[in-house]
Amino acid sequence: MQLDSTSSHLPVLPLQFGTPLTDSAIRVMLLGSGELGKEVVIALQRLGVEVIAVDRYPNAPGHQVAHRSHTIDMSDPDALLALIESEKPHFVVPEIEAIATDALALAEERGAAVVIPTARATQLTMNREGIRRLAAEELGLPTSAYAFADSLEQVQAATDRIGFPCVIKPVMSSSGKGQSTVRSADDLPAAWDHAMAGGRVNHGRVIVEGFVDFDYEITQLTVRAIGENGAVQTSFCDPIGHLQQSGDYVESWQPQPMSQRALAATHDVAEKVTTALGGRGVFGVELFVKGDDVYFSEVSPRPHDTGLVTLGTQRLSEFELHARAILGLPVDTTLITPGASAVIYGGVEAAGIGFDGVADALAVPETDLRLFGKPESFTRRRMGVAVSTAGDVDTARARAREAASKVHPIG
Ligand SMILES: Nc1ncnc2c1ncn2[C@@H]1O[C@H](COP(=O)(O)OP(=O)(O)O)[C@@H](O)[C@H]1O
Ligand SMILES: [Mg+2]
Repeated sequence: MQLDSTSSHLPVLPLQFGTPLTDSAIRVMLLGSGELGKEVVIALQRLGVEVIAVDRYPNAPGHQVAHRSHTIDMSDPDALLALIESEKPHFVVPEIEAIATDALALAEERGAAVVIPTARATQLTMNREGIRRLAAEELGLPTSAYAFADSLEQVQAATDRIGFPCVIKPVMSSSGKGQSTVRSADDLPAAWDHAMAGGRVNHGRVIVEGFVDFDYEITQLTVRAIGENGAVQTSFCDPIGHLQQSGDYVESWQPQPMSQRALAATHDVAEKVTTALGGRGVFGVELFVKGDDVYFSEVSPRPHDTGLVTLGTQRLSEFELHARAILGLPVDTTLITPGASAVIYGGVEAAGIGFDGVADALAVPETDLRLFGKPESFTRRRMGVAVSTAGDVDTARARAREAASKVHPIG
């Protein structure tokens, strides 16, 4: 890995805003250009920023709305550094976990670009071990019981202490891949094999977590942005409740009603973990809630998929908040109305699919759709989302589910 040390052009706050495609432009490079990245690109475009979208396949959702796009293997450090060198972005904004984070650390160290929120935050959160040890052992935050294991024998030994049910996950994975909930020792070999097949890299390590029998789970969107005094301040969005199926979110809503004590504990945990990660931007802090108790689960140092609901509910969506925080601008986390989102899956395995029922879906009151424009559909690939609002969360959820159910992908 090489990086030309003369390339430093680190942005100084407050930024001088400029004109895209000229020497005065502020340039932002998105690493990962899926549906979340696409919304960040649009938010940046609206502020007159020049945006370079990168993904591993051509015509990704964010590619379609950026000034320039690139298709590279982002887990290849040399390819990533070469692209940063040639595009010279002021800010590099990861949208996914599967990135050569050592290359980001090098780019940051050499002053090639500001990494959002920080290269260290991307390194710690891409591995369940890094973030769990930070949260539980350094910060003392409440979490499930846990142990790390490198073999089936070590998993069996861990369950002697943790008990059943427990959850077994590869340390490097996302979207529930390779994850199983295990109810007895008999099921451990299958769970181990599933984890070995589902990890992102060939990394024979898993986390064994005690199963938390939560009442509900939430995403606490937390924003680190420049405040009135010129220093970074932490702000909180209203909590987002969500429903997960096979490790993928299917529905989310905002605000999730919570007791005063649980909300105070949520803010305390979110403030501590995001402060430890540092930098600026939106974080999605995932928590399990039981009564007044909250358990830290994991954190994304970027907008969160369950936060798609904020496209309808907040004065500034999580994507607009991220754009503002990156650029050193003031933020406003005001909730305007209760709302909900419901996922539209591909349902078919085909390229260039069509969608029936769009008008019917949009006839549902207070409802919007996002169709992401992914070039290829898989049965369980998220291809779109319905976002609805209402005077209360239950009505909004019913509307979003109804609208999503009216959209029919056709191969
Ligand atoms: N220890 C646990 N106890 C109970 N449910 C869990 C536990 N760990 C994960 N889950 C469930 O599985 C979902 C996905 O797990 P998570 O650790 O967030 O993985 P991913 O990184 O793939 O999102 C969680 O949102 C939660 O619904
Ligand atoms: Mg998760």
